[in-house]
Amino acid sequence: MKMLPTRKSLRIVLSVAALVVLPEMAAAAGGGAALEHFTPERTDRTLQRGAKIFMNYCMSCHSADYHRYSHMARDIGLSDKAVSENLIFTTDKNGERTKIGSLMVNNMSKDYGKEAFGAVPPNLTLIARSRGVDWLYTYMKSFYLDESRPMGANNTVYPQVGMPHVLAGLQGWQKPVYESDGEGHEVLKGFQQVTAGKLSAQEYDSVITDLVSFLDYLGDPNREARHSLGIKVMLFLLIFLVLAILLKKEYWKDVPHS
Ligand code: HEC
Repeated sequence: MKMLPTRKSLRIVLSVAALVVLPEMAAAAGGGAALEHFTPERTDRTLQRGAKIFMNYCMSCHSADYHRYSHMARDIGLSDKAVSENLIFTTDKNGERTKIGSLMVNNMSKDYGKEAFGAVPPNLTLIARSRGVDWLYTYMKSFYLDESRPMGANNTVYPQVGMPHVLAGLQGWQKPVYESDGEGHEVLKGFQQVTAGKLSAQEYDSVITDLVSFLDYLGDPNREARHSLGIKVMLFLLIFLVLAILLKKEYWKDVPHS
């Protein structure tokens, strides 16, 4: 049979090409700064520390309301009581401390966010999926002092960002250093520390590791369970395959070959 490229097969080829090319283009559109590679951790200790930073430093503006506190408590190895007492800082509409079974909603209204920062702080539940962990890790390390910005901060990964540098107390302030790439473009070479924060550069990196690992968990809380189930299913199918082959041999052994 002669194979002619039909419209359908052309469409399939084009969609596959788009799948390969689009993520690259999205990454390239991320402000031009090179991203650091980041591998998230999934240990309870890392996620507990990450949750603490998230609740203390991010939830005042951002929410994560596709996820529940109780679900998080179970996943990161904490009791409901420990989470209620140490990690819930928001109040519900009656003014009482948010309950453990609630979604992780914050108290800032969208209008206020827009008014104060020029942009509504987005819901961060799925941010690790939409931006990717490399982007998040680099973003959290790329705030720099820029007095021309309303919040005094800019970001090399997200230029003109509306978010203030909320971790400046920990990281201190830095300024970007650029160098020429020989073709007339200025490229980011690194950062120079302007004022010190409470933490050393290494300690700050480990805070961001915890935080981004936590964001990664929020975006895909059941990944571990899914992977281990996947392995069990594959094992089952393999064993089943062997049985099926043996059974087939058994059935066909008395049939004479033609
Ligand atoms: C004072 C309020 C405030 C706090 C606190 C805050 N943010 Fe933001 N954040 C914002 C605003 C406003 C934006 C939207 C910026 C824009 O679009 O220009 C934003 C945007 C972001 C984005 C980019 C989202 C996107 O893809 O467009 C990420 C990621 C983020 N914040 C993470 C965090 C994390 C992690 C913390 C805690 C360490 C945090 N933020 C704390 C106000 C805040």
